Amino acid sequence: MSPPSPLPAAAELTGIRKAYLRPDGSILVEALRGIDLRIESGEYVAIMGASGSGKSTLMNILGCLDRPTAGGYRLDGEEVADLDDHHLSRIRGRRIGFVFQAFNLIPELTVVENVEVPLFYQDIHRSIRRERALAMLDRVGLSDRTSHRPGELSGGQQQRVAIARALVTSPAVLMADEPTGNLDSSTGFAILGLIDELHASGLTIIMVTHDERIAARCERVVRLRDGLIERDEPGGGAGKRTSRRPGDETLARDASAWFAASQARPTPIADGD
Ligand SMILES: Nc1ncnc2c1ncn2[C@@H]1O[C@H](COP(=O)(O)OP(=O)(O)OP(=O)(O)O)[C@@H](O)[C@H]1O
Ligand SMILES: [Mg+2]
Repeated sequence: MSPPSPLPAAAELTGIRKAYLRPDGSILVEALRGIDLRIESGEYVAIMGASGSGKSTLMNILGCLDRPTAGGYRLDGEEVADLDDHHLSRIRGRRIGFVFQAFNLIPELTVVENVEVPLFYQDIHRSIRRERALAMLDRVGLSDRTSHRPGELSGGQQQRVAIARALVTSPAVLMADEPTGNLDSSTGFAILGLIDELHASGLTIIMVTHDERIAARCERVVRLRDGLIERDEPGGGAGKRTSRRPGDETLARDASAWFAASQARPTPIADGD
């Protein structure tokens, strides 16, 4: 009997290069110089390295926010390196949830409207958008802040809104660039507890960070240096079941259940394919 065919990787990069060009087309910086990386579905991976080593550049490519200059990228089995902007943004909207260091919430919108934003692009009925956004905010423990503006929230609360926004489309992968970078230590710790729970519920997590606490909790640490992978090794959380830590409960309550429920819910996408 032949062995079962392996599942497609969540993300598979081969020979990825990225050069930033000058207006005249000459190379300004070679930010990535040949990256081979396979991330399995369900993994929790931290991407680390010195400032300027190429982490954000790599994350932007992984997240379909930017295209490589050369190389292949298969996202969940689909080749995406050469897609045009329109197709790239559609893939991004359906498969990937993003969290940024600076939260990137829209200040004029309320909390619940911010969480609804990604659903706008999926042509989902207004009442369903609102229902899903409220459910997601409940799950990150922010039911009592839904009509606030982002400026009226603490940093940790803003990042929880950003996580709710990232997950409202039920993506397969959560990507984050320095999600704890703007948070004090204990707030950052609580956000990490929420991310642990999401990982335990089956979400693939790829995170750029300088935070060694993340390296201590994730399964795998990929270290970049000058646009190349310098080391790829198990993180402190490898082989260990995620366990609750004191203080995580308020943020992470029922995360597994809600994530499973949000995954199971049919996505009424009405944009033609
Ligand atoms: N838009 C751009 N145009 C030109 N060069 C860029 C651009 N973005 C990044 N670079 C250069 O590419 C290299 C990698 O940058 P990148 O932002 O990926 O680093 P990083 O590892 O995320 O650093 P940090 O930890 O400081 O965020 C750096 O030398 C940077 O100066
Ligand atoms: Mg960066």
